[in-house]
Amino acid sequence: MGNRSNQPVDLVGIEETRSFHAFHTFLRQAKVYAESDLYPDLYRAYERAVGGERRPSSVAGANAILDDLPEYQLYAWLFRNSQQLKYNNPDWGVVAAARRETERLAPKLEAIAAEGIRRGELRLDPALRIPDYFSLVDFHQHPGGVWQHPLDGLAYDLARRTTIAAHSDPNDIYRLIFSYLPPDAATGRVLDWGIGHGDGALTWLESHPESEVHGVDLSAPCLKYAYAKARAHGVKVLLSQQDLEHLDYPDDHFDVVFFCFMLHEIPPAATEPLLREAHRVLKRGGVFLGMELGATADPFQTAVQDANCFLNNEPFMAACAHADYAAIFKRIGYRHVHVGTFGKLQESKPGATTTDGVPRGRHDIFVIRK
Ligand SMILES: C[S@@+](CC[C@H](N)C(=O)[O-])C[C@H]1O[C@@H](n2cnc3c(N)ncnc32)[C@H](O)[C@@H]1O
Repeated sequence: MGNRSNQPVDLVGIEETRSFHAFHTFLRQAKVYAESDLYPDLYRAYERAVGGERRPSSVAGANAILDDLPEYQLYAWLFRNSQQLKYNNPDWGVVAAARRETERLAPKLEAIAAEGIRRGELRLDPALRIPDYFSLVDFHQHPGGVWQHPLDGLAYDLARRTTIAAHSDPNDIYRLIFSYLPPDAATGRVLDWGIGHGDGALTWLESHPESEVHGVDLSAPCLKYAYAKARAHGVKVLLSQQDLEHLDYPDDHFDVVFFCFMLHEIPPAATEPLLREAHRVLKRGGVFLGMELGATADPFQTAVQDANCFLNNEPFMAACAHADYAAIFKRIGYRHVHVGTFGKLQESKPGATTTDGVPRGRHDIFVIRK
């Protein structure tokens, strides 16, 4: 599985049997197949179904054609069910595997977290109000979300191995994001914005060991796990349970705020307040750096991508992909705004090509300066 920091740590990790490993490798390959082979086949079937007619100019028109295609039914089935299997398979699903170990691992994680609290490296807030948009959605089909069960951080860490199925090391996505950091950016104090399992911060420290790294999340189980993981790797990350909409950091505090796949989990009404708060805590000249799903103008591609909303329990994903973030950042007062194609990610995918005429989805890279 590549980089050491993506291995769950001994103390709060499960035993990964050969069967467990084979199962998750199979699921990852199924997703690679869906994206690199099945998706182009689906597009060709769509083209044949359109025949000599005018291509649909709307998403509803594209859906009317897609819905009758066996290739689409297979694609959608694979998308929905590979995630279901990943979490829920009773033998090798990550939730089942983590929950089987609750009695053994949860007290260990609690003891490690208590040490983090004593050392001032982990701040938890049991009274924090969890926003409804977060508590009511099982994002990406994670049963119960990533914040209720004591081992949700561990389950999240195991599950993310198939998020970007093209990468056998799931931390490659962070390396690609960080490679867009402007060379003149200061890196003294950095915030991982929605840190989750913690590996974005660990990966940042590989290339910037000088930074004081902070991580914020709503999920206490994730923060405890991120603390345990940082500790196991002998690095310090200052973790706190906060809502990104109301941070307790002073103004002008961070040189860099970075994020990965965060905006699509935020409903449109909350997005601007969160981005304003990130602006407040950034120093002048500081960089807001991250990636998100983007949009294309192609109705076929948009119809397939927007289906994520119901196929993968991502209700805000379509709104996110179609939001005009550049306009929002400018309105907030960021001075330099770049939202453009995340080319290095596109190129890293198997079968990546722009010459076969298949309209593929895009991801955007955000390099925004205060
Ligand atoms: C898609 S995950 C990304 C996790 C991690 N950054 C990664 O790269 O895998 C989004 C994370 O943001 C957290 N989150 C969502 N809304 C939040 C909010 N309003 N305040 C703080 N954290 C939030 C979630 O708990 C989750 O861990």
